Amino acid sequence: MRRIGEPEKPIRMTYDGAEIVANDGEPMAVSLLGAGHAAVARSPKFHRPRGPACMRAACDGCLARVDGVPNVMTCRTPARDGAEIVTQNTLGTRDVDLLRVTDWFFPKGMNHHELFAGVVGVERIMQGFARRVAGLGKLPAQIEQSRTAERRSVDAFVIGSGPSGMCAAIALAEKSRRVEIVDDALELGGSLRALAPKSGAWREIEDDFRQMVNAGKISPRIRTTAAAIYGDDVLVIGQQGAEVISAKTTVIASGAHDGVLAFEGNDVPGVMSLRAALFVLSRGVLVGKKIALVSLSDDSTFADALTERAVELGIDVVTSRGLPVKVHGTSRARSVGVRDGKSSDRNAPKVRRLSCDAVVVDTPRAPAYELAEQAGSRIEHRPDGFFVVTDRGKIRDGFYAVGEVVGTRFDAKAMRAAARQIA
Ligand code: FES
Repeated sequence: MRRIGEPEKPIRMTYDGAEIVANDGEPMAVSLLGAGHAAVARSPKFHRPRGPACMRAACDGCLARVDGVPNVMTCRTPARDGAEIVTQNTLGTRDVDLLRVTDWFFPKGMNHHELFAGVVGVERIMQGFARRVAGLGKLPAQIEQSRTAERRSVDAFVIGSGPSGMCAAIALAEKSRRVEIVDDALELGGSLRALAPKSGAWREIEDDFRQMVNAGKISPRIRTTAAAIYGDDVLVIGQQGAEVISAKTTVIASGAHDGVLAFEGNDVPGVMSLRAALFVLSRGVLVGKKIALVSLSDDSTFADALTERAVELGIDVVTSRGLPVKVHGTSRARSVGVRDGKSSDRNAPKVRRLSCDAVVVDTPRAPAYELAEQAGSRIEHRPDGFFVVTDRGKIRDGFYAVGEVVGTRFDAKAMRAAARQIA
């Protein structure tokens, strides 16, 4: 992994005491990848190396201690001059974690609740050891004072600033509603940040949205998480603290999680979702020199974007339509075995081994249904995940859901139409 060109706004941070140069404001996980560090974290129990895999706060591959605060999701934390990033959860160094032996001693897994239980003497030693090594990170260097949540009333409140959220905000603003939109990412746009569209329908959505923002009709906030819905209230956590927002209209556009496939080595650093890889690329960092793109998705939007970027950048992308069965490598992906074909038919005979230094997996995404369910929507299980069932976008009076969370395909026209309907 390396940076394409020099950072535009260079800053300096330290990673385990060594200086790294990064771009001001980019996600720290991108800075670490750009500095060549694919393995950033360790799994809690077996201490396997882990790397950023989702770039959207949904895995634990980017956790580190930052400026004395443990378990910071570096994919959601902006790089800033002077920041100190430290590896956590290791005994030894970042590269040589002695607790990794746990994985080798127990290749078939380990039930730590019963380990040496009842063996006189050994039981106590094991308990003492387990207490010392259990958990993730060490307590923060400073205690943060608690703050009181504020209560606010809002006219129209949109959760999620991906293309569906943007379309909803635009459509509501066109109806003269005063719109607030929040997103937990470091910038607006959701999946559009991965696509980085220069023209076309996706770009038009962005341009319309920016115009509305500039005209003061939409107020956006980043790094702000809609954490839960209680009755008619939305609990929102932002940089200034917590708020309880009650809106006349709340639109949930929470999008979809990257699909996660169960296969051997799916946690090896260098294995990431296609959307995450594109996002890292859009920030000027290569996820690999030779990328194996393993695709199970019928939607080629993101795969096409990667192919296009690869041509521009002169990187090698080997695309394989099939099911990944094993990633080889320990602290970095070295190759991937792919069973040809679209289905999950594990009896299909042929497994091809692709050599690579990054494995990018493109699977159908699973709706991020949690908030909609809290708002009272019915949830239906389909092969790709739990989908929010609405009455043409309506969950109940005042609550609506749009976009991938309700199964709208990732298509600009379809998203615009759904947004207009709820508006
Ligand atoms: S949680 Fe940060 S990369 Fe997945």
